[in-house]
Amino acid sequence: MKKLVGIIVAVIAFVFFGELLANGEGDFFPGEKWFDTDSIHINAHGGGVCYYDGIYFWFGEHKTSGRGGNSAQVGVRCYSSVNLYDWKNEGVVLNVSSAEGSEIEKGCVIERPKVVYNKATGRFVMWFHLERKGRGYNDAYTAVAVSDKITGPYSFVKSVRPNAGTWPLDYSGVRDTLISTKKLEWWTPEFNDAVNDGLFVRRDFSKGQMSRDMTLFVDDDGTAYHIHSSEENLTLHISKLTGDYISFTNEWIRVFPGGHNEAPAVFKYKNRYFMITSGCTGWDPNEARLAVADSMMGHWTYLGNPCVGEDANKTFYSQSTYVLPVAGKNDAFIFMADRWNPSNPIDGRYVWLPLMFNNDVPYLKWFESWNFNVFHD
Ligand code: DGJ
Repeated sequence: MKKLVGIIVAVIAFVFFGELLANGEGDFFPGEKWFDTDSIHINAHGGGVCYYDGIYFWFGEHKTSGRGGNSAQVGVRCYSSVNLYDWKNEGVVLNVSSAEGSEIEKGCVIERPKVVYNKATGRFVMWFHLERKGRGYNDAYTAVAVSDKITGPYSFVKSVRPNAGTWPLDYSGVRDTLISTKKLEWWTPEFNDAVNDGLFVRRDFSKGQMSRDMTLFVDDDGTAYHIHSSEENLTLHISKLTGDYISFTNEWIRVFPGGHNEAPAVFKYKNRYFMITSGCTGWDPNEARLAVADSMMGHWTYLGNPCVGEDANKTFYSQSTYVLPVAGKNDAFIFMADRWNPSNPIDGRYVWLPLMFNNDVPYLKWFESWNFNVFHD
């Protein structure tokens, strides 16, 4: 009898500790506080990851406490990791400026910074959504900063309204910026038709197109693309960047005119390009959207909500920011999203989930915790 009890205890202990190990340090806990190697909650919101020389570098918005903590009081922070679980704080790599009138003056809006490495120049290029201080979200600029070192400091280069004076490659609307349009109410089908036909493309033709939520994608051939919400957040634009990644080539397309997409995240899987976006509901979560194309500047097809299960209609209370290909693993991607906290932005959480595939179409399901075993590779 004693022996039997002993065996049962041993089996229970084995299962329990085995479970602990499996769910121990090497696990992701979506939506929980995530502490860096100094035991401080990671402060890199709306972020993206650049993998360089065997190390992952996570760049994101440094948020502060309380209301107002969504404006840039500090700048862009960077963390590094070799295993994607443990992150070391590399400090603030792009600092806001204390100079009055500076484009990146403390109190401006710096959102969704993304960093890519340019092999030709050997420089690291950061793009981010910029709104100058005190102007709400009306500037709708994208801005670029560069550094010779991945951990910065990054020097501000310029802000732009992309693609001024050029029509999109896929444009079928009227090419006349002087065309007068009667004021249309936004909920009417006439407004929708007008947006489709390029109402805002024409309005912003001379000064450049609006650019708010944005991301970058570098293709296998080294071509970089800037993907952003434009036309009052109604239409996505995809633009090719120049070889040094610091300017627009003026080759661009419109995706889903009037579709109201934000928070784009792009990745390539089996030679097809996928994009996950959100709808536009401020800091509140909504239903994610998935789209696919055979080429970045080609035709994008809408595939619906990639999330399944409970809270799929709220993207598990988060909003996309980046899709991270896991180095050294075939077809393993991590969906990175933010669970915003507008009343205390510094406490915003990160929802990282593995992308699952069904017939080569990605989908997302909730995990309380997960680790690399889900990738079966
Ligand atoms: C949603 C966007 O995705 C965020 O980056 C931010 O711009 C908020 N809107 C502001 O309300």
